[in-house]
Amino acid sequence: KTRLIRVDPLHPEDEAIAEAAALVRQGQLVAFPTETVYGLGANALDAVAVRRIFEAKGRPANDPLIVHLAGAEWLSRVVASVPPEVGILATRFWPGPLTLILPRNAAVPSEVTAGLPTVAVRVPAHPVALALLRASDLPIAAPSANRFGGVSPTTAEHVWQDLAGRIACILDAGPTPIGVESTVLDLSTRPPRILRPGGTPREALEAVLGPVAVWEGASGGGAQPSPGLLAKHYAPRARLILVLGGEAEALTARVVDIARTLSAQGERVGVLLTDEDARRVEAQLPGVSLLALGSQTDLTEIARNLYAALRQLDAQGITAIVTRDFGSHGLGLAIRDRLRRAASEVVTLSPEP
Ligand code: TXA
Ligand code: MG
Repeated sequence: KTRLIRVDPLHPEDEAIAEAAALVRQGQLVAFPTETVYGLGANALDAVAVRRIFEAKGRPANDPLIVHLAGAEWLSRVVASVPPEVGILATRFWPGPLTLILPRNAAVPSEVTAGLPTVAVRVPAHPVALALLRASDLPIAAPSANRFGGVSPTTAEHVWQDLAGRIACILDAGPTPIGVESTVLDLSTRPPRILRPGGTPREALEAVLGPVAVWEGASGGGAQPSPGLLAKHYAPRARLILVLGGEAEALTARVVDIARTLSAQGERVGVLLTDEDARRVEAQLPGVSLLALGSQTDLTEIARNLYAALRQLDAQGITAIVTRDFGSHGLGLAIRDRLRRAASEVVTLSPEP
């Protein structure tokens, strides 16, 4: 009973958007592409509709959602007050993969914010998402359109695999261009801090704001600023072993060691590396599913391919995935964060970078 509607990613057809927007206005769930991952959308101002998101995903109610807006001019529909930095951040980064944590107003049901006094907001940089927001004329609450805890969807097929039969409609505009979720930024602290690294690099934020901290996760020892930021998340079914804390060559050599050992023990092993790594070590990994994610010189390509690769290895019946850290520049920080959360085991070569 889930409708799959194909739309042009750059020039979405009016009828398709009107149909999806009508469903949103009726309180139904619509999965739609953003520039990061597919979102599972509902009218953010309707508590009943928002509860359907949690049911469809199997998501605990203490995990707050991101509210998507058509533009910064919609902020006053959901936000009580706007700190001074928001103007420049919105000008520079919206539409785009940056989510801001701001004080919520009374129009936002507590289901959206998990009872927090703040609301997460962003303006997505995808023509289909923006068209849906404008046509429905509603702020749309949307987490990633996957079952809770699993790998986020970067294609409509991924959404279908996870949520068919549980939601009204999927707008299919092909693969999402960035492939990892938005950066979540908390402006209530000095310096501002990244709660979740994502599609907007830390360096880009620092160019505008000056120093920006990165919340180090539960392992950092501090109190958890948001109940949704669980350690284990974004995980494939296979167990994932992450090697970090060293130069690319040393990390890759250890990945190869571990993969060969597990393979010799009879496990079905998958390995994720850069194109350059893969060419170098391919011959050492007979019988292993080796996927090249992209060039070491282009972390955006690695980010774009990561989730589909994890899903592909699961679909092949792989039991153990071995991969490495790709550094912390640009999208590297987001990739590291997701791999850490997906990992059942982290192998550290030298003190962490
Ligand atoms: O790219 C994205 O951000 C995608 C697309 C669909 O926009 N959405 C997404 O949503 O990743 P979700 O629900 O999977 O992740 C929302 C993140 C969680 O880490 C949650 O803890 C955080 O935002 N968050 C939401 N509201 C918050 C709040 N009031 N305070 C702190 N963190 C919050
Ligand atoms: Mg998610």
